[in-house]
Amino acid sequence: MGAIASPAEDEAMNTIFYGMIDKLVLAMQQLRRSRLWISIFRREHLPQTETDYLAMNRRNFFVHILPAAMNKKSLRTSYSWLWMGVTAFWLFVILVISGIYLMFYYVPSVERAFDTIRYIINQVSLGRFFRNLHKWAGELMVAVVFFHMLRVFYTGAYQKPREFNWIVGVVLFLITIFFAFSGYILPWDQLGYYAAKIACNIAQNVPFVGDQVREGLLGVSNCNNLNQFSLIRWYVIHVFLLPVLIILLIAIHFWRIRKDDFSAPPEEERA
Ligand code: HEM
Repeated sequence: MGAIASPAEDEAMNTIFYGMIDKLVLAMQQLRRSRLWISIFRREHLPQTETDYLAMNRRNFFVHILPAAMNKKSLRTSYSWLWMGVTAFWLFVILVISGIYLMFYYVPSVERAFDTIRYIINQVSLGRFFRNLHKWAGELMVAVVFFHMLRVFYTGAYQKPREFNWIVGVVLFLITIFFAFSGYILPWDQLGYYAAKIACNIAQNVPFVGDQVREGLLGVSNCNNLNQFSLIRWYVIHVFLLPVLIILLIAIHFWRIRKDDFSAPPEEERA
């Protein structure tokens, strides 16, 4: 039979228990103030006041990309739909790195393009990995950018003061599709060749300036004679023109997010 503790015994137990907790908290506080802890976590550099936070926001390039203040609810992944915009950005970084790797081996020649792709897949070390990474990341980016656009629409974040960024976003979406489409042409296999032919037919049906657009994009006077000019044009579009354009627009997109502040859920924005 266990004896029931008297109130005095209870009191004594409590004193011991809370005394131990107090000592633990004190030890933790001392540890966090110790030179060892500070040398590891550099706490003295962390901002302590709101003014410090704003100063840090201005000083650090990576931090200053973010708005100085954000509504806590907008930080939820459910609000940003798993930070789709951020995901799109990192997919783009993966595409640049894997694309540069592929450029060391790919030759934009109608005779050799397909063979160089086969060479990358079968002979180059890590070639199959980088080629698949590039292909998957490219296709995923189209979906992710689309869902990011859907999220912005769904949360009403396209409204004032973010209308300009919405327009920049629409252009980013079109560029992303152009990226995927131009990449599709580059292996110059049956899929690529006929994709170029479809592009040619669309181009020459542009009202009034169809012939010029076809000449400009594919370098041919007849869509049945796609040739080296057609391939090299889409190669330059894919590895130079679109990357320059998208980097510029992403920079403008991020600058506007910084200036317009990140949106908040509608009920918070109204409050
Ligand atoms: C290459 C494509 C894109 C990239 C890398 C990108 C990146 C981002 C990032 C990182 C954010 C902030 C956080 C987030 O929501 O994840 C954002 C916000 C935003 N994006 Fe994009 N985005 C792209 C395409 C688009 C498209 C297609 C649209 C719309 C047509 C769009 C419109 C917006 C708007 C209006 C915001 C502000 C959202 C808010 O304040 O809630 N973006 N974008």
